[in-house]
Parts: sequence; C-alpha cells; structure tokens
Amino acid sequence: MSTDDVKKMQVVVLISGSGSNLQALIDGAASGELPISIAAVISNRPDVFGLTRASQAGIPTLVLDHKSFASREAFDAELMRQIDAYNPGLVVLAGFMRILTPEFTQHYLGRMLNIHPSLLPKFQGLNTHQRALDAGEKHHGVTVHFVTAELDGGPAAIQAAVPVLPTDDASLLAKRVQRQEHVIYPLAVKWFAEGKLRMVDSKAELNGELLPASGYRIEANEP
Ligand code: GRF
Repeated sequence: MSTDDVKKMQVVVLISGSGSNLQALIDGAASGELPISIAAVISNRPDVFGLTRASQAGIPTLVLDHKSFASREAFDAELMRQIDAYNPGLVVLAGFMRILTPEFTQHYLGRMLNIHPSLLPKFQGLNTHQRALDAGEKHHGVTVHFVTAELDGGPAAIQAAVPVLPTDDASLLAKRVQRQEHVIYPLAVKWFAEGKLRMVDSKAELNGELLPASGYRIEANEP
C-alpha cells in the first residue's frame, strides 16, 4: 500500500470470468477518477482472463476454487476470511457467478455491490438478454444494486436502459448492455467511495435522498 492509498477506499473485487467490469474499475482507479484502491481480486475459477487483467495492473490475486470445498458454507466462510484480511470498505461483485449464503450477505450488508444485466426487478437470474428478447421488451439494460440475501433483489443504486432493436440477437443486445455496465459500475463505486451512495433501512440513498426502486436511472439511447 502506498501513502497515496491511505485516503482511498480499499476495495476487493470478486470475479468468475473475463473481468471487463473489473477493467473499467482498474482504469477508473488508475486515472484518478475513482477514489479507490483495488486491494485484491479474488476469483472462484482458475485461469479466467480477469485474473490476467488484475496481474497486469499489479493487483494481488487469489483463486479460491469453490470445487475444492465440501459445502457452500465452507467456501463462503473461507472467502470471507480472505476478503476481511484486506479490511475493505467495499466488496464489488463483478461477474461473480455464485449464489451467496445468508451469512455472507449479512456480513457485507450495505458494503457490497453487484451488477446484474437486466432492468431489475425484471429478469432476475440467468440468460437475461435472451429472456428480454423472448418477452418482446422494448427496453433492456443493467442494474447495480446492494447485495442482500435475496438473489438479485437488493436495493438498486443505478440502472441504465438501452433500446432493444428489431435486428438484435442475445449477443448484440449483451454488447449494448455491457457498454453501459462499464459506465454505471464505476459511477456507483465512485458514489459509494465518496460517501454519497448508502444503504439505509434496506433502501438505497444518494446524497441523503431516497432513490426510486430502479435506482438512479440513465436512458442510453445510442444503439
Ligand atoms: C456482466 O454481464 C455482468 O452484468 C454479469 O456478469 C458479466 C460479467 O462480465 N453479472 P465481465 O466478467 O465483467 O466481463
């Protein structure tokens, strides 16, 4: 930790895959836009590209393979131990594909964010882009929310909506949504690190004002 890091919020990022959202946070921290220091990146899967991104940025990495644990509880307990060693002010789930135990979500309540590729509360769970297409949605998008015991159910901090185009397939739509992910996740993390975004009484607040159920909402009209 450098002397510069002392006043920055320490953040631990959990990943399971390519880490493009992690990259957006790395870039934001490097440019000085985000007042954070990424203390560690932890993946439950070995050999994912997100780990390479972290190493290239000089961030300590750890692989905690869930398959080598006897139970979900045992994995989460060890994950908590590893995260807490960094004493982070914020835990960021960036494509971390695990269902979390209530003990885990309770431990980080109000200081853990997740990004989910849908306009929550629509399309909780997996395959959100295809499901939005199948449902004939005119808009789709992405939500950053506080993590609670309810899967993809915690209070929303920010949401970006994109149009669904007649020519879309799930992959085109996913790309349009991901561009917004890389905008709103750094923004939510910045707000949190600056003390502007908080979870109070199971609700999200920005600058002391209650946010709507969608969180702060951005309409991104670019195709
Ligand atoms: C993103 O689409 C995010 O919304 C979802 O998992 C994906 C992670 O992508 N939760 P990446 O690993 O950040 O590239």
